[in-house]
Amino acid sequence: MAKILVATEKPFAAVAVKGIREVVEGAGMELALLEKYTEKAQLLDAVKDADAVIIRSDKVDAEVLDAAKNLKIVVRAGAGYDNVDLDAATAHKVCVMNTPGQNSNAVAELVFGMLVYGVRNFYNGTSGTELKGKKLGILAYGNVGRNVARIAKGFGMEVYAYDAFCPASVIEADGVKAVASTADLFKACQIVSLHIPATAETKGSINFELMNSMPKGAIVVNTARKEVMDEAGLAKMLEERPDFKYLTDIMPAIHAELAEKYAGRYFSTPKKMGAQTAEANINAGIAAAKQIVDFLVNGNEKYRVNK
Ligand code: 3PG
Repeated sequence: MAKILVATEKPFAAVAVKGIREVVEGAGMELALLEKYTEKAQLLDAVKDADAVIIRSDKVDAEVLDAAKNLKIVVRAGAGYDNVDLDAATAHKVCVMNTPGQNSNAVAELVFGMLVYGVRNFYNGTSGTELKGKKLGILAYGNVGRNVARIAKGFGMEVYAYDAFCPASVIEADGVKAVASTADLFKACQIVSLHIPATAETKGSINFELMNSMPKGAIVVNTARKEVMDEAGLAKMLEERPDFKYLTDIMPAIHAELAEKYAGRYFSTPKKMGAQTAEANINAGIAAAKQIVDFLVNGNEKYRVNK
């Protein structure tokens, strides 16, 4: 009987696990759970006899793949798969998939939760500003970016976007203004929301020069990946631009320093929580389980992200 392991340091909502169990057991397979683990050794032990693994931001590297002798597929229940060593997976003949779009609304809603908090001065009782009429720049127009655009229009914002891989015509078809570059987006928009993946090209790419080109009252909201920020540039921006705010659910390495020095302009949730909703967990978790069953039973490789 094929064994499907759910290995989640940050667990899914119980209702999502129930749904995953129904899919897995309904296909005559066995479900194993490793939730809230604290040591890599626990993961190494749990993957030993797994045929398939469902993960979130959990790291799957060559050591994990070496330990998982029966492993055929890893599904990242979510969008970004920078936590999986794709080359090592390919070398181990393990298929890697993600579940695009399944948790994107949750992330987009959190963007606005943080933005309202930001423009209302962290709810300190002083007069803030509104989002209506402000220019919002969306960096990368994928599933999350599109949901951010949809919600922003409800707030009455002027929405701009740039995506290196999405044609301007697709962006404009949504009533969003397409700009020609990341630099143009930062120059035009008082508020920029990041939705780029962490890749060799994007890591450290959001730097002081870009942020400093933003209009007065600039806000950057990052629900993408902490790695895309140039943290020294972020610290410099907070120091040199007293009008600037940074809002994130992905704590930077220099969080303690920023939280102490720039309280009132810098905010991070204690844990990454963009996709922490029951709906997102159900959507992504069940999609992952279904993709695994379809792969193991029918060989369906849709959503495969490694070669
Ligand atoms: C994603 O890439 O899907 C999001 O960043 C959510 O990540 P999480 O599952 O670790 O919350």
